[in-house]
Amino acid sequence: MTTDTNGAVGAALDHLRQHRDRHREELDEFLRIESVSADPDRADDVRRAAEWITAELDRIGFEHVSLHETSGHPVVTGEWLHAGPERPTVLVYCHYDVQPADPLAEWVRPPFDPRHEDGRVYARGVGDDKGQIFIHLKAAEAWMASAGRLPVNLRLFFEGDEEVGSEPVDEFIAEHPELLAADLCVVSDTGMQDDNGTPAITYGLRGIAYFEVRVSGPFQDLHSGGYGGAIANPATVLVQMLASLHDEHGRITIPGFYDTVRPLTDADRAASAAVPFDADEFRELTGVPGLWSGEEGFTAAERISVRPTLDINGIWGGYSGEGAKTIIPAWAAAKFSTRLVPDQDYHDIERMVVQHMRRIAPPEVRVEVRVIHGGAPALTPLDHPAVEVAARAPEDAFGKPPVFLRSGGSIPVVAALEAHVGLSSVLVGFASPNGNFHAPNEWMPVANLEGGMDALVRLWGALGEMTADQLRGG
Ligand code: BES
Ligand code: ZN
Repeated sequence: MTTDTNGAVGAALDHLRQHRDRHREELDEFLRIESVSADPDRADDVRRAAEWITAELDRIGFEHVSLHETSGHPVVTGEWLHAGPERPTVLVYCHYDVQPADPLAEWVRPPFDPRHEDGRVYARGVGDDKGQIFIHLKAAEAWMASAGRLPVNLRLFFEGDEEVGSEPVDEFIAEHPELLAADLCVVSDTGMQDDNGTPAITYGLRGIAYFEVRVSGPFQDLHSGGYGGAIANPATVLVQMLASLHDEHGRITIPGFYDTVRPLTDADRAASAAVPFDADEFRELTGVPGLWSGEEGFTAAERISVRPTLDINGIWGGYSGEGAKTIIPAWAAAKFSTRLVPDQDYHDIERMVVQHMRRIAPPEVRVEVRVIHGGAPALTPLDHPAVEVAARAPEDAFGKPPVFLRSGGSIPVVAALEAHVGLSSVLVGFASPNGNFHAPNEWMPVANLEGGMDALVRLWGALGEMTADQLRGG
């Protein structure tokens, strides 16, 4: 870094340190907004979170700050494009919606009443992903307040439908590529490698295809003594159908499912093996008695990131109250999802799954299959010039080099930005990998919040020393 950049980075870092107390209050204010995108009754709260962000962006000095209506929740954009035409333009993407907080009884304190304890902040969305938006806001604010400028041209893009599949945002991207044009997208919606300050740069995500299936039989519940034996039980049929979706080798049995899966190269397998993975720790952290052997021929680390999977997400129907009730339920239903890898096309997978479920449905019942949502996998080449620069900033902030990961999670917008805007993404995330995403008592280490701000201040400084062409690999 030049001495000028070094000085400016130092001043911005000082600014961050001087405002820690205020940051804590502001973060709590943001976390208190109940921006649960899945809950129609919380739509006004989701909007309030978007409005909270727009007010912050205005205050920090971003321009053309807008709250855009979509077919879902609002999208927020803003920009500051005065670093000079030679300098890179970076698009920042995060989501301000959160998962539902239930089961509520398992939270030590209410999910929208932030709790600061033992160097952690507990609240729904603190890791996934409002805390990470906050990190971005504060890093940009530190540059603007200390230097009066940013070293790169920055566009911001925050959505409120990520946790429900981002479909309205895919439409927004297709309709407004001009608001998102950039040389690189930086996404902060992933985690670090561990809780000892090892950063992670994520360069791949799995895609997703999500389904609901409903098996129905008699008009209404029947006495299982009078009818059991002659009437196909919808719950039995459902579990048989679902169980048949894996074979004895842990492979998914849907015809064509693996046809377009790109085989792992030696380099892919080496990259996966290079990421520390401790099976015992994984077992202890999740509380399972043993790990599933899964798809034969692949390591657990590969199976949770670079291989496709299928999981039942929920299953219901019949009697589940106290005591016993002897019935053949009229119907039973389940939600299940597949995680996809390059080059699986989620539209093709949706067709294959729906056809397969219809094909294996026995004639004694009715089976309906519905597609809930889908999103494509994403993969940024590890030799993309942005990966190396993006790796240095967290290394300097946290004092340890990052690991390079392909995450098993999905962020549908990343592939959509590539398809519609031609944007490559690097995912620089600061959440804890054990931070209870989507679960009770979600938490984020304070060290990661502060280290994340530090890393982004440095990242913008480093990118500001490159030209747009260099960043694109030109
Ligand atoms: N932040 C996660 C994605 C993620 C999870 C990244 C774990 C890295 C590790 C994101 O908010 C998320 O949960 N995405 C959903 C997408 C779905 C609703 C389309 C997911 O992966 O289930
Ligand atoms: Zn999430």
